[in-house]
Amino acid sequence: MNILFVNACMRGPERSRTWRLCQAFLQRCKERWPEAEIRERDLTAGALPVLTAALDEARHQRFQEDPQDPMFAPAHEMAQSDLVVIGAPYWDLNFPAALKVYLEWASMLGLTFRYTREGKQVGMSRAKALVYVTTAGGPLEGQNYGFDYLKGLAAMFGIPEARCLSAQGLDIQGNDPEAILKAAEERVEGLVLELEAL
Ligand SMILES: Cc1cc2nc3c(=O)[nH]c(=O)nc-3n(C[C@H](O)[C@H](O)[C@H](O)COP(=O)(O)O)c2cc1C
Repeated sequence: MNILFVNACMRGPERSRTWRLCQAFLQRCKERWPEAEIRERDLTAGALPVLTAALDEARHQRFQEDPQDPMFAPAHEMAQSDLVVIGAPYWDLNFPAALKVYLEWASMLGLTFRYTREGKQVGMSRAKALVYVTTAGGPLEGQNYGFDYLKGLAAMFGIPEARCLSAQGLDIQGNDPEAILKAAEERVEGLVLELEAL
Protein backbone atom coordinates (compact mmCIF):
# COMPACT_ATOMS: atom_id res chain seq x y z
CA MET A 1 0.00 0.00 0.00
CA ASN A 2 1.43 3.36 -1.08
CA ILE A 3 0.10 6.52 0.49
CA LEU A 4 0.93 9.85 -1.10
CA PHE A 5 0.76 12.87 1.21
CA VAL A 6 0.58 16.09 -0.76
CA ASN A 7 1.50 18.75 1.76
CA ALA A 8 0.20 22.23 0.92
CA CYS A 9 0.05 23.31 4.58
CA MET A 10 1.85 26.53 3.79
CA ARG A 11 2.39 27.72 7.37
CA GLY A 12 4.52 24.67 8.16
CA PRO A 13 4.32 21.95 10.81
CA GLU A 14 4.78 24.32 13.77
CA ARG A 15 1.83 26.58 12.98
CA SER A 16 -0.49 24.85 10.55
CA ARG A 17 -3.66 23.37 12.03
CA THR A 18 -4.28 21.61 8.73
CA TRP A 19 -0.90 19.89 9.05
CA ARG A 20 -1.86 18.74 12.54
CA LEU A 21 -5.12 17.25 11.26
CA CYS A 22 -3.23 15.55 8.40
CA GLN A 23 -0.85 13.98 10.93
CA ALA A 24 -3.76 12.64 13.00
CA PHE A 25 -5.15 11.00 9.87
CA LEU A 26 -1.78 9.66 8.64
CA GLN A 27 -0.94 8.33 12.10
CA ARG A 28 -4.19 6.34 12.13
CA CYS A 29 -3.41 5.06 8.62
CA LYS A 30 0.00 3.86 9.85
CA GLU A 31 -1.65 1.97 12.69
CA ARG A 32 -4.27 0.44 10.43
CA TRP A 33 -1.90 -0.39 7.57
CA PRO A 34 1.54 -0.85 9.22
CA GLU A 35 3.06 -2.04 5.97
CA ALA A 36 2.01 1.13 4.16
CA GLU A 37 4.66 3.39 2.76
CA ILE A 38 3.88 7.08 3.15
CA ARG A 39 5.60 9.41 0.73
CA GLU A 40 5.38 13.15 1.15
CA ARG A 41 5.30 15.75 -1.59
CA ASP A 42 6.12 19.00 0.19
CA LEU A 43 4.73 21.99 -1.71
CA THR A 44 5.43 24.59 0.94
CA ALA A 45 8.76 25.69 -0.53
CA GLY A 46 7.09 26.39 -3.88
CA ALA A 47 9.73 24.55 -5.90
CA LEU A 48 7.49 23.67 -8.87
CA PRO A 49 7.35 26.29 -11.63
CA VAL A 50 4.04 27.69 -12.84
CA LEU A 51 3.12 25.79 -15.99
CA THR A 52 3.50 28.24 -18.86
CA ALA A 53 2.52 27.35 -22.42
CA ALA A 54 6.22 26.95 -23.29
CA LEU A 55 6.76 24.58 -20.37
CA ASP A 56 3.65 22.63 -21.28
CA GLU A 57 4.90 22.17 -24.85
CA ALA A 58 8.36 21.25 -23.56
CA ARG A 59 6.98 18.60 -21.23
CA HIS A 60 4.97 16.90 -23.95
CA GLN A 61 8.05 16.90 -26.15
CA ARG A 62 10.16 15.54 -23.29
CA PHE A 63 7.60 12.83 -22.57
CA GLN A 64 8.25 11.32 -26.00
CA GLU A 65 11.99 11.13 -25.23
CA ASP A 66 11.96 10.08 -21.56
CA PRO A 67 8.74 9.49 -19.60
CA GLN A 68 10.89 8.90 -16.50
CA ASP A 69 12.24 12.46 -16.49
CA PRO A 70 11.93 13.93 -12.95
CA MET A 71 9.48 16.53 -14.26
CA PHE A 72 6.91 13.71 -14.46
CA ALA A 73 7.33 12.69 -10.81
CA PRO A 74 4.06 14.38 -9.73
CA ALA A 75 2.12 12.48 -12.42
CA HIS A 76 3.84 9.17 -11.65
CA GLU A 77 3.17 9.44 -7.93
CA MET A 78 -0.47 10.39 -8.54
CA ALA A 79 -0.87 7.37 -10.82
CA GLN A 80 0.95 4.86 -8.64
CA SER A 81 -0.37 5.59 -5.15
CA ASP A 82 -3.16 3.59 -3.59
CA LEU A 83 -4.38 6.45 -1.44
CA VAL A 84 -3.86 10.16 -2.08
CA VAL A 85 -4.01 12.46 0.95
CA ILE A 86 -4.00 16.18 0.23
CA GLY A 87 -3.59 18.67 3.08
CA ALA A 88 -4.38 22.31 2.31
CA PRO A 89 -5.79 25.23 4.29
CA TYR A 90 -8.86 27.10 3.07
CA TRP A 91 -7.53 30.16 1.31
CA ASP A 92 -9.81 32.61 -0.47
CA LEU A 93 -12.58 30.00 -0.72
CA ASN A 94 -10.14 27.51 -2.24
CA PHE A 95 -6.66 26.14 -1.61
CA PRO A 96 -3.18 27.70 -1.95
CA ALA A 97 -1.91 28.27 -5.50
CA ALA A 98 1.07 25.94 -4.89
CA LEU A 99 -1.39 23.04 -4.91
CA LYS A 100 -2.90 24.10 -8.23
CA VAL A 101 0.58 24.28 -9.75
CA TYR A 102 1.29 20.76 -8.50
CA LEU A 103 -2.00 19.44 -9.89
CA GLU A 104 -1.17 20.85 -13.32
CA TRP A 105 2.09 18.89 -13.24
CA ALA A 106 0.26 15.80 -11.97
CA SER A 107 -2.29 16.00 -14.76
CA MET A 108 -0.43 14.41 -17.63
CA LEU A 109 -1.80 12.76 -20.75
CA GLY A 110 -0.47 9.21 -20.89
CA LEU A 111 0.25 9.03 -17.15
CA THR A 112 -2.80 10.13 -15.17
CA PHE A 113 -5.36 10.04 -17.98
CA ARG A 114 -5.69 8.96 -21.58
CA TYR A 115 -8.24 8.88 -24.39
CA THR A 116 -9.75 5.79 -25.98
CA ARG A 117 -10.00 5.44 -29.76
CA GLU A 118 -13.59 6.59 -29.39
CA GLY A 119 -12.37 9.77 -27.74
CA LYS A 120 -13.53 8.89 -24.26
CA GLN A 121 -11.37 10.14 -21.40
CA VAL A 122 -10.17 7.41 -19.03
CA GLY A 123 -8.34 7.88 -15.72
CA MET A 124 -5.07 6.00 -15.17
CA SER A 125 -4.48 6.28 -11.42
CA ARG A 126 -4.69 3.11 -9.39
CA ALA A 127 -5.69 5.00 -6.22
CA LYS A 128 -8.94 3.89 -4.65
CA ALA A 129 -9.57 7.15 -2.87
CA LEU A 130 -8.48 10.72 -2.36
CA VAL A 131 -8.74 12.28 1.10
CA TYR A 132 -8.76 16.06 1.29
CA VAL A 133 -7.82 17.52 4.65
CA THR A 134 -8.56 21.20 5.23
CA THR A 135 -9.15 23.75 7.95
CA ALA A 136 -10.96 27.07 7.60
CA GLY A 137 -11.13 30.30 9.54
CA GLY A 138 -14.84 30.63 8.87
CA PRO A 139 -17.53 28.30 7.55
CA LEU A 140 -16.96 25.92 4.62
CA GLU A 141 -20.52 24.87 4.02
CA GLY A 142 -21.66 25.22 0.45
CA GLN A 143 -18.34 26.86 -0.50
CA ASN A 144 -15.83 24.06 -0.20
CA TYR A 145 -14.74 24.75 -3.76
CA GLY A 146 -11.28 23.24 -3.35
CA PHE A 147 -12.76 19.90 -2.40
CA ASP A 148 -15.48 20.07 -5.07
CA TYR A 149 -12.80 20.63 -7.70
CA LEU A 150 -10.55 17.87 -6.35
CA LYS A 151 -13.45 15.42 -6.46
CA GLY A 152 -13.83 16.19 -10.16
CA LEU A 153 -10.11 15.96 -10.85
CA ALA A 154 -9.86 12.68 -8.91
CA ALA A 155 -12.63 11.24 -11.11
CA MET A 156 -10.71 12.37 -14.19
CA PHE A 157 -7.62 10.55 -12.89
CA GLY A 158 -9.73 7.41 -12.30
CA ILE A 159 -9.87 7.79 -8.50
CA PRO A 160 -13.45 6.81 -7.75
CA GLU A 161 -13.87 8.06 -4.19
CA ALA A 162 -13.12 11.38 -2.52
CA ARG A 163 -13.61 12.32 1.12
CA CYS A 164 -13.08 15.54 3.02
CA LEU A 165 -11.85 15.81 6.60
CA SER A 166 -12.26 19.37 7.80
CA ALA A 167 -12.28 21.70 10.76
CA GLN A 168 -14.04 25.01 10.30
CA GLY A 169 -14.69 28.22 12.17
CA LEU A 170 -11.19 28.23 13.67
CA ASP A 171 -10.72 31.99 13.41
CA ILE A 172 -14.18 33.07 14.55
CA GLN A 173 -13.96 35.10 17.72
CA GLY A 174 -15.40 33.23 20.66
CA ASN A 175 -14.83 29.80 19.08
CA ASP A 176 -12.50 27.32 20.75
CA PRO A 177 -10.10 26.24 17.97
CA GLU A 178 -8.55 23.50 20.11
CA ALA A 179 -11.97 21.93 20.76
CA ILE A 180 -12.91 22.19 17.07
CA LEU A 181 -9.64 20.51 16.04
CA LYS A 182 -10.09 17.75 18.60
CA ALA A 183 -13.61 17.08 17.30
CA ALA A 184 -12.18 16.83 13.76
CA GLU A 185 -9.47 14.45 14.98
CA GLU A 186 -12.17 12.25 16.42
CA ARG A 187 -13.65 11.85 12.94
CA VAL A 188 -10.41 10.25 11.72
CA GLU A 189 -11.35 6.81 13.00
CA GLY A 190 -14.66 6.74 11.10
CA LEU A 191 -12.96 7.91 7.93
CA VAL A 192 -10.34 5.14 8.10
CA LEU A 193 -13.10 2.58 8.62
CA GLU A 194 -14.91 3.98 5.61
CA LEU A 195 -11.77 3.68 3.47
CA GLU A 196 -11.22 0.15 4.68
CA ALA A 197 -14.67 -0.80 3.44
CA LEU A 198 -14.03 0.48 -0.11
C1 LIG B 1 -4.05 33.76 2.59
C2 LIG B 1 -5.20 33.30 3.47
C3 LIG B 1 -6.48 33.27 2.96
C4 LIG B 1 -7.56 32.83 3.75
N1 LIG B 1 -8.82 32.80 3.21
C5 LIG B 1 -9.85 32.36 3.97
C6 LIG B 1 -11.17 32.30 3.46
O1 LIG B 1 -11.43 32.64 2.29
N2 LIG B 1 -12.18 31.87 4.24
C7 LIG B 1 -11.94 31.46 5.53
O2 LIG B 1 -12.89 31.03 6.19
N3 LIG B 1 -10.69 31.49 6.06
C8 LIG B 1 -9.66 31.93 5.32
N4 LIG B 1 -8.38 31.98 5.85
C9 LIG B 1 -8.16 31.46 7.22
C10 LIG B 1 -7.66 30.01 7.17
O3 LIG B 1 -8.53 29.21 6.41
C11 LIG B 1 -7.57 29.38 8.55
O4 LIG B 1 -6.83 30.19 9.44
C12 LIG B 1 -6.94 27.98 8.46
O5 LIG B 1 -7.17 27.26 9.64
C13 LIG B 1 -5.44 28.08 8.18
O6 LIG B 1 -4.92 26.80 8.16
P1 LIG B 1 -3.47 26.49 8.77
O7 LIG B 1 -3.54 26.69 10.27
O8 LIG B 1 -3.26 25.08 8.38
O9 LIG B 1 -2.51 27.43 8.12
C14 LIG B 1 -7.31 32.43 5.09
C15 LIG B 1 -6.01 32.48 5.60
C16 LIG B 1 -4.97 32.92 4.81
C17 LIG B 1 -3.56 32.96 5.39
